[in-house]
Amino acid sequence: MANQKLKQIQQGAEAIILLDSEKDKIIKKRIKKSYRISSLDKRIRKRRTKREAKMLKKAAKLIPIPENIEESERKKTITMDFLNGSKLSEKLDNFSLKKQKEIMNEIGKSISRLHNSGLIHGDLTTSNMIFQNGEVFFIDFGLGFHSNRFEDKAVDIHVLKEALEAKHFKNWKVLFNEFEKAYENSKHDSKVLKRLKKVEKRGRYKH
Ligand SMILES: Nc1ncnc2c1ncn2[C@@H]1O[C@H](COP(=O)(O)OP(=O)(O)O)[C@@H](O)[C@H]1O
Ligand SMILES: [Mg+2]
Repeated sequence: MANQKLKQIQQGAEAIILLDSEKDKIIKKRIKKSYRISSLDKRIRKRRTKREAKMLKKAAKLIPIPENIEESERKKTITMDFLNGSKLSEKLDNFSLKKQKEIMNEIGKSISRLHNSGLIHGDLTTSNMIFQNGEVFFIDFGLGFHSNRFEDKAVDIHVLKEALEAKHFKNWKVLFNEFEKAYENSKHDSKVLKRLKKVEKRGRYKH
């Protein structure tokens, strides 16, 4: 039976986001892709749902993410608590520079904790971070995976750097520097950041 209280609040490339306002829950549902053969499509959505839920549950032990992650492989859904905050992409620039730096510091610590446990987020943009009660929560582990390679960690950070440059260009250098300072306490700190330089050079020569 359809739940009357469900309201679609977002439509992404592969999932829709429903809000259950009665239970204060978010349901991320991977939707059918008609261009794929149905049986293959089901398998892909099932696999991605499973993978994201697994990543979220592991990350939950390390950094702030929505609580009460539950998945249904049959329905291709992940249910989690609704974060009643704002997307960091829309909020960050409105804070004082001091506050913005504090936030980047917090993000640096969280990502270093994640990387130290061999978890790669895969899509570290400020649209996948929600600011709630002074804390940065991470969402959208759909592209996440396990790795302890410097390269994978560096690329993860590169995505964040590019997101800052594109979306928060006014202070992006100061902000990224703040991130790096906090990240530097991580296990492979200098090696990952050194690797980042290589990743960047490669990016530049690509065009
Ligand atoms: N737990 C949550 N609480 C509040 N908003 C959320 C939550 N999960 C997702 N959203 C909202 O839905 C959007 C899309 O979710 P996300 O997991 O990033 O899906 P996509 O893979 O489509 O980017 C987010 O940017 C955010 O605005
Ligand atoms: Mg997203």
